Amino acid sequence: MNKIDKIKAELEAFAIQNADNLEQFRLKFLTKKSELQELLSEIKNVAPEERKDFGQRVNELKQKAQQLFEESRAKLEFQTSKSENLLDVTRPSTAINLGSMHPISIMMNEVCDIFEKIGFSTVSGPDVEDDWHVFTALNFPEEHPARDMQDTFFVELHPDILLRTHTSSLQVRTMEKQQPPIRVICPGRVFRNEAITSRAHCIFHQVEGLYIAENVSFADMKQTLLYFAKQMFGSETKIRLRPSYFPFTEPSAEMDISCNICGGAGCALCKHTGWVEILGCGMVDPNVLESCGIDSKKYTGYAFGLGIERMTMLKYKTNDIRLYFENDVRFLQQFKAAGER
Ligand code: DAH
Repeated sequence: MNKIDKIKAELEAFAIQNADNLEQFRLKFLTKKSELQELLSEIKNVAPEERKDFGQRVNELKQKAQQLFEESRAKLEFQTSKSENLLDVTRPSTAINLGSMHPISIMMNEVCDIFEKIGFSTVSGPDVEDDWHVFTALNFPEEHPARDMQDTFFVELHPDILLRTHTSSLQVRTMEKQQPPIRVICPGRVFRNEAITSRAHCIFHQVEGLYIAENVSFADMKQTLLYFAKQMFGSETKIRLRPSYFPFTEPSAEMDISCNICGGAGCALCKHTGWVEILGCGMVDPNVLESCGIDSKKYTGYAFGLGIERMTMLKYKTNDIRLYFENDVRFLQQFKAAGER
């Protein structure tokens, strides 16, 4: 009985603070050779009248030891898992991959910046348009073959509603709201039902420009576009205008810039001509001014529309338009520096 009291006192005084203590506890109280276990095997030697009481006390002690062991073990496990999860502020951090501006956005911003510096303001409008703003007000008569110049996506249930095929719709929206002088630049996404190839896509981007005031001339347009080309592609850049046709301008032209890859000597990109087309332009047709409520006797103006993908391909010397729509980060990452400027 004295031995039981002694072991009980030891058990209660035993402090388990770490894994070593826990193991010492196990060796002292729970292994076959421990004093406590020895007491168990002594039960049979105790005098019969005391045996029941003795056995009961030894067994209680054994259970207590077992319980203490389990509880301490659980407590220690909890503590170690908690400390493993603690924030270690000295650990090296994992790199955070910041996204970057898309090359098309970079180019659109650059174009707008150049024109904003000379007094144009940037406006935007809806991708989903109606026939009036995309065609009719821009002097495309109904059933006129000029409508076939652009393969249009119509909304099946409502043929008057369509995805805009050009940002020229924003000329109309601006003139309907505002009287001259008007000087706007309109970036946006456009849609055409075209097969996707390395040179064409069914979605692309344009920036439209419009200047309406008194006495605006073709010479004003030419000078503004030359200024733009030099700002965008370098001061050595030359431009040339070729006569063309658009329903909304008269006269109309297409503008080429001297090839910035071969410097005009001739290469695959310029098809050995030394020139690459970047935009369409012209003097706004009086019919368009009248459709939009502007007095065509008093005011004249010019408009132009340039393709962003085309210019981006030229500026960054890439040869496949599809790259701009695949969002492969290996491609996009190359424009990080350009986007931070
Ligand atoms: N909207 C024309 C196109 O998508 C581009 C264009 C040509 C816009 C001449 C103009 C312009 O404003 O005057 O092909």
